[in-house]
Amino acid sequence: MTRLDRWLVALGVGSRSQVQKLVKSGAVQVNGQPARDPSQSFAGDEALTLHGTPLDGRLTRHVMLHKPAGLLTAARDKKQPIVMDLLPPAYSSLGCMPVGRLDKDTTGLLLLTTDGELNHRLLAPGRHVDKTYRAAVDGPLTDEHVAAFAAGLHLSDFDAQPAALNILSSGAAESVALVTVHEGKFHQIKRMFEAVGRHVTALHRLTFGSLTLDEALAPGEWRELTEAELTALYHDAQMKETL
Ligand code: URA
Repeated sequence: MTRLDRWLVALGVGSRSQVQKLVKSGAVQVNGQPARDPSQSFAGDEALTLHGTPLDGRLTRHVMLHKPAGLLTAARDKKQPIVMDLLPPAYSSLGCMPVGRLDKDTTGLLLLTTDGELNHRLLAPGRHVDKTYRAAVDGPLTDEHVAAFAAGLHLSDFDAQPAALNILSSGAAESVALVTVHEGKFHQIKRMFEAVGRHVTALHRLTFGSLTLDEALAPGEWRELTEAELTALYHDAQMKETL
């Protein structure tokens, strides 16, 4: 239970003084009744409207985004477009943040959440949350590459753990493969391929832990996680779900 005005500020409706004015003007309704007192208590499960339009009052949000190429995975950036630009402003106000990072030119599954502990735990080294990527590279792939990935590759600043490489097609000019890694170091997939003499020309993430990118989402589209997805994700993080 908290004050209505605090809740509205958290939802990004406006500053403290702006929301107080709105409430006093009768623009905010709680369970169908105009609220007149900004300090009245609010539990979070009441129906909220602003100027007659329903307002999603949940403070927690968990989002699956199909990241398109060309956006930075960042909570804010002064110069470049970011993934947060694809979500309504309330998501930023609520502190919804990307879990980990995809490169600007990488596409696919990006999870965003308001739960900082979940975010932290899913990324913690040793948690071994698997991620599967589809990578296109600039030359043939062979069983030797599969063996090198399975053995674990030595990169300049760290040894990559054994990873599964599953070749979907191999050609002189281009090959496509699925790669599953248990960690998430900077440019990891691109650097693993560089280490075996191949350059990644396209990279797309398909899974993150128990989450699989919803094929119904076009690049740039997003949706909230389902209950089942959320439960599985909290299980991945070995956490109790806090809704
Ligand atoms: N590995 C990369 O090289 N880039 C990404 O965006 C993700 C994993």
